[in-house]
Amino acid sequence: MLNHNSNVSAAKDTRFVCVRGAREHNLKNVNLIIPRDTLVVFTGVSGSGKTSLAFGTLYAEAERRYLESVSPYARRLFHQMPVPKVDEIEGLPPAVALQQQRGLPTTRSTVGSVTTLSNLLRMLYSRTGDYPPHVKFMDSEYFSPNTPMGACPVCHGLGRIYDVTERSMVPDDSLTIRERAVAAWPTAWQGQNLRDILVSLGHDVDKPWRELPKAERDWILFTDEQPVVPVYAGFTPEEVREAHRRRMEPSYQGTFTSAKRHVMHTFANTESASMKKRVARYMISRICPNAMGSG
Ligand SMILES: Nc1ncnc2c1ncn2[C@@H]1O[C@H](COP(=O)(O)OP(=O)(O)OP(=O)(O)O)[C@@H](O)[C@H]1O
Ligand SMILES: [Mg+2]
Repeated sequence: MLNHNSNVSAAKDTRFVCVRGAREHNLKNVNLIIPRDTLVVFTGVSGSGKTSLAFGTLYAEAERRYLESVSPYARRLFHQMPVPKVDEIEGLPPAVALQQQRGLPTTRSTVGSVTTLSNLLRMLYSRTGDYPPHVKFMDSEYFSPNTPMGACPVCHGLGRIYDVTERSMVPDDSLTIRERAVAAWPTAWQGQNLRDILVSLGHDVDKPWRELPKAERDWILFTDEQPVVPVYAGFTPEEVREAHRRRMEPSYQGTFTSAKRHVMHTFANTESASMKKRVARYMISRICPNAMGSG
């Protein structure tokens, strides 16, 4: 990539940037001529000095030349690069570089928000848009999907709606509840607990899911009710009935949670990335109907 033997002085015109004696980091007195007003790519193995040349030398000098033209006050707002180790650079226009992105994009990120273009659009809308009747002026926050005032009431500004269905939470309906037909439910102790609660509530946990009545399936999957019931841990339905008859002391009181409630609550509240990922597998997402065109 580096042309050590270029005749630098021969290229003294505005079509080229001429670098003499670049010594930033590992660069060893590099001379080169770079064509202007065209896309130039530096390639080379890692550590060969591409960044040292492009940013540490060329950009550092271009920014320095730009900053000379602004007020000392504005200059302090810039992250100033150190003066590059180089003998001479000719034909270099002043320049500023912009960050490609601020941090990692999230689910709320769009091309508009990552580039900050949406801030300008919001400002424009707030000045020139049509307001609701009797409203004289609107803050530009009303035009941002990332504020409570501006967000779409259906998808809260995410652009997608997340939901659960019987299909998404029960991928194989030939399984019984005991065989974990409700895949979206937690595993291990919590899973057994919910199964034991269903036994106490009189549900058949040994019948294939698809043979259970629809009303029963819907309640188990979608209800917001959270009944607290006596649990006889590990008992068969028969043994539970027997225990009831004999008024046996239950192992404990268990609280039922529907699969939907578990998935939605965990997705919204967990601080564990892996838990969130696990329940997300049982959700479906689709584009918010409000986002098509108007959002
Ligand atoms: N801030 C720094 N201070 C001291 N040495 C540095 C600094 N930045 C880079 N170097 C050294 O300068 C040499 C060239 O690094 P440079 O980052 O320019 O290479 P590169 O070609 O851009 O590599 P990559 O392909 O990995 O980005 C390397 O030996 C590196 O260790
Ligand atoms: Mg680099």
